[in-house]
Amino acid sequence: VNRPVRVAVVGLGYWGPNLARALEEVDNVHVTWLCDMRREVVDRVGRRHPSAARTTQVDDVLDDDGLDAVVVATPISTHYPIALAALSAGKHTFVEKPLTTSSAQAVALARLAAEQALVLMPGHTFLYSPPVRSVKRLIDEGHLGDIYFVSTSRVNLGIHQADVSVAWDLGPHDFSILRYWLGENPTWVTALTRSCVLPHVPDVAFVNAKFPSGTIAHVELSWLAPSKLRRTTIVGSRQMVVYDDTSNEPVRIFDSGVSLPDFGSYGEHRLSYRTGDIISPRIPHDEPLVVEFADFVAAIREGRKPVSHIDLGIDVVRVVEAVERSLDDLGARTTVEADIEVEAA
Ligand SMILES: NC(=O)c1ccc[n+]([C@@H]2O[C@H](COP(=O)([O-])OP(=O)(O)OC[C@H]3O[C@@H](n4cnc5c(N)ncnc54)[C@H](O)[C@@H]3O)[C@@H](O)[C@H]2O)c1
Repeated sequence: VNRPVRVAVVGLGYWGPNLARALEEVDNVHVTWLCDMRREVVDRVGRRHPSAARTTQVDDVLDDDGLDAVVVATPISTHYPIALAALSAGKHTFVEKPLTTSSAQAVALARLAAEQALVLMPGHTFLYSPPVRSVKRLIDEGHLGDIYFVSTSRVNLGIHQADVSVAWDLGPHDFSILRYWLGENPTWVTALTRSCVLPHVPDVAFVNAKFPSGTIAHVELSWLAPSKLRRTTIVGSRQMVVYDDTSNEPVRIFDSGVSLPDFGSYGEHRLSYRTGDIISPRIPHDEPLVVEFADFVAAIREGRKPVSHIDLGIDVVRVVEAVERSLDDLGARTTVEADIEVEAA
């Protein structure tokens, strides 16, 4: 049957209204419920979705037997209880990043979803962004060669979150992108943060990560910066890439590198530096949120694994957890918890 997939959006603060709008753009999807604990917020957003029912109680949404799926866009600390209730009520569940505040919670949700054959999808939007996908293709097709290192800056002024650090808020973007590009999670991390403005809410973080393949990464995250940067440099053995999400040429490929030419006599070699063409490939303008929800709906209809899949979501939570443990241990090198296999829906 190709009846519309009926979806509820829970949490209509800064981000939720964007999700409700994007859902309406996906074929054969109907936003049937809008829910926020603040009445005035539900009513304001509700005016843009006249056919959606409105409520301040998640239970009203979950009691609707005709509802297929719940999209959760509430503050991070509430993701686990709301997603647990949604899955327990038999609803496919999309949870904004990060999935939960602990990997134990994330694994528990994943098991519940698998048992019930429900889709549980973490909202790692950047995996649906055309430039991120084009870099993924460059890596997979071998154009960059071995990835030596990745260096990334995600900084801007605001928005301070009350319930979590910048590592939990912005970190999942970079950790999900790295996991997607490299197809692996870090083995260990080290981290340094400072709570500059609010006590005990770190608003700047420098994270270093080492991956099983040997790739290393530096991730700079901050809500305190003079200008907005979304800039990632990937240095490979064959080519290098700069991905700048704020630029109208978001991906630039540098045919540059260094190689060790043939050895002359033993011990006598010169490095050869190569600075070649710079190519800026054409990047489509698909809206990531719409592509993301199309993938969620396809996962529901066809039972296939979304690109932003649950194992990736769990891995991202594990990286942030390791960052927190490193901070508790004065920035020491800290192992990222690895694979307990979870059968995803
Ligand atoms: N993918 C992205 O690029 C992206 C961007 C921004 C935010 N986010 C994520 O979206 C989520 C929400 O962030 P935000 O900035 O919109 O937060 P926000 O605080 O602006 O909005 C959260 C809303 O949830 C409501 N809420 C809280 N508890 C509730 C409950 N139990 N039942 C119903 N409503 C409840 C609040 O009233 C509020 O309106 C976070 O997980 C955040 O990480 C993702």
